[in-house]
Amino acid sequence: MVKFADRLQKIDLSGIRRLFEAAGSDAINLGLGQPDFDTPPHIKEAAKRAIDAGFTGYTPGKGIPELREAIRERFLEKNGFEIGVEDIIVTSGASEALHIALEAIVNPGDGVLIPDPGFVSYFSLTRIAGGIPKSLRLDENFRLDPDLLLEAIGPGDRVLILNSPSNPTGRVQTRDDIRAYTEIAEDYGLVIISDEVYEEFIYDGEHVSPASLTDDVITINAVSKTYAMTGWRLGYVGAPSEYIEQMLKVHQYIQACASSVSQFAALEALTGPQECVRSMCDEFRARRDLLVEGLNALGFSFPIPDGAFYLFLRVADEEGFVTKLLQNGVVTTPGSSFGENGRGHVRISYAASRSDIKRALEIIERVI
Ligand SMILES: Cc1ncc(COP(=O)(O)O)c(C=O)c1O
Repeated sequence: MVKFADRLQKIDLSGIRRLFEAAGSDAINLGLGQPDFDTPPHIKEAAKRAIDAGFTGYTPGKGIPELREAIRERFLEKNGFEIGVEDIIVTSGASEALHIALEAIVNPGDGVLIPDPGFVSYFSLTRIAGGIPKSLRLDENFRLDPDLLLEAIGPGDRVLILNSPSNPTGRVQTRDDIRAYTEIAEDYGLVIISDEVYEEFIYDGEHVSPASLTDDVITINAVSKTYAMTGWRLGYVGAPSEYIEQMLKVHQYIQACASSVSQFAALEALTGPQECVRSMCDEFRARRDLLVEGLNALGFSFPIPDGAFYLFLRVADEEGFVTKLLQNGVVTTPGSSFGENGRGHVRISYAASRSDIKRALEIIERVI
């Protein structure tokens, strides 16, 4: 019998996947964690040009200089913090960026503070890095109350993960709260990992990057959601030089470099026309409003999501609700997949057409 690594034994792949496999091919999918749009044509064209021009080899480990320059400008203009092009690594999606950040910082047994409910990968990547995920309870409106954060911090905690707008809650944390987290992180010597992949999809409120307020922040982003490019596997991370130096050691050996073709596509995405982002955001807002109105009319009450493309709904019987919907052709994601405190909820993704959302609402009405 092969003895596999202990740190992987608490990681479970099966939950969500089993659900999707059980759904018929004509099911309405409100379980998706990606835009249902195609990558805009000008971005695809840039990728084709890169292939034709023979940009098909390895690139510098940190990424092509033109792309890192575009990312540097974006951090400065959109996110309000200044770092050099050398302090950026282009990665295979935000996922790799999260992985190399945690690998660079976490020692066995270190605590990583994670909003709960929160994106599933934070818990698993922490375990893969040998750390201990520590749940941060959110209030009833999915706000990470700075007082709750203070209560949760223990002696072995090293990292605070922030994710605004949030998957799965859609919550955008306020400027005052983000400022409070950065002050707490400074006081307790915590490194902040800020996952900002939904920064462009905000309907109420504003996006605030913790790196614009304090120094010890690893900022992670990707073209995945913003430009409907999840399959291109292209993300990026910016941080103070000493962090990048350590992260590069992991990136170099697990990845060498991000896909060359995807890097040219990402360069076009970041520097080309931005109308595609605005129209996706407008469409997501319209779908959010449709879903919110529909669920309100059915008697549900819940915090209205400010961003991303998820609504996190409290339900009396999570498993029963998800299963009944599935049997009636609607896929949703059980809230407990996003942490202990997600139990009793269901995540509804509105990265689906308005007609699918309307049909799903009719089915929800029948099911309840
Ligand atoms: C909050 C959050 N971070 C990171 C990711 C992963 O992004 P990528 O596809 O760029 O690896 C996701 C994907 O669902 C996400 O929701």
